[in-house]
Amino acid sequence: MKKLRSALKTKFRNSIKIVGLGKYLPEKVLTNFDLEKMVDTSDEWITTRTGIKERRIAEGESASDLGTKASLIALKRAGLKPQDIELIIVATVTPDYQFPSTACCIQKNLGAKKAVSLDIGGACAGYVYALSLAWALVGGGFYKNALLVGSEVLSTITDWSDRSTCILFGDGAGASVVVPAKSEAGMLSSYLGGDGNFGDFLILPAGGSRLPASKDTVKNRLHYIKMQGNEVFKIAVRVMVECAQKALKKCGLRSEDADLLIPHQANLRIIRAVAKRLNLEDKVFVNIHKYGNMSSASSAVGLCEAYEEGRIKKGDIVVLDAFGGGLVWGACVIKWI
Ligand code: ACO
Repeated sequence: MKKLRSALKTKFRNSIKIVGLGKYLPEKVLTNFDLEKMVDTSDEWITTRTGIKERRIAEGESASDLGTKASLIALKRAGLKPQDIELIIVATVTPDYQFPSTACCIQKNLGAKKAVSLDIGGACAGYVYALSLAWALVGGGFYKNALLVGSEVLSTITDWSDRSTCILFGDGAGASVVVPAKSEAGMLSSYLGGDGNFGDFLILPAGGSRLPASKDTVKNRLHYIKMQGNEVFKIAVRVMVECAQKALKKCGLRSEDADLLIPHQANLRIIRAVAKRLNLEDKVFVNIHKYGNMSSASSAVGLCEAYEEGRIKKGDIVVLDAFGGGLVWGACVIKWI
């Protein structure tokens, strides 16, 4: 019994490392100037209030299509074949279907026959949640590896007649492959949280069992994102700062130890406020100007792009920090191997 306990303890102490990253952004670019022709807005307003200049829009592609393309790149870089993958976790608020899961669609597209496949919620914090779950399952010895995907086609749930939301969102996908790490490095800590009392601040009201699709729900545009932007803004800044601090504290680090902060890309003003409070203004990754808010795909694409741009080197401490509909929030600290 003693032996079993110590074996379990050792197994659960295992870390995971990311061995392959991929991203896919649809080709079509929708600029702020394009939006000026669709709603009463201006490039100047959008740039000043959000930092966004353009976003990508999927045409005839679903979340699994985007996610499959990002996954193929991540798998190639990891040196693994789809048949090697044992677990696929997809974070998305724009699944292909209610069921089958988008993870099952990606499993089929890849031919990853061995993989246990599941979708998770978590909205914009979805990738941070997926990474944390993978840590438990792969680090815990249940699976040898995992493919994590954040994929969104938010353009399908965006009300293109609502200027307060349609300027914010874009489509894209990011993927990563994780395996157990034998050293003390890799994933160092995860801090997750949330408060369902704030659920109404950011919601897609209809289409679920609470409010099934009907003529009325369509007429009242209830199949689109509804958001109380100001309320979300205030909470986002506070919880993202707390999340990063708590995740760093859990592994005995402080914000000055971080080499790169990759925050969820919802609004440049949120990103700057969070970075300032963490004293990481010079170490913050930003790509919101190119893609807008891609929900779960923002962190996944951000991590991939930061790595591709050479912003992450061996030994660096990387902090992923996100919040989203739920409301949910979370941060992960990774020591890059
Ligand atoms: N163009 C021009 N004017 C606009 C636009 C627009 N696109 N949108 C709103 N306005 C107007 C408003 O009507 C208002 O006018 P008024 O003063 O005459 O009433 C004025 O601009 C100011 O509006 P606010 O809502 O106060 O603007 P704010 O500075 O708060 O910016 C924004 C709005 C960008 C939405 C901001 O609140 C924000 O980014 N909030 C956080 C959003 C967020 O992080 N969401 C996460 C979603 S993630 C997910 O889970 C899918």
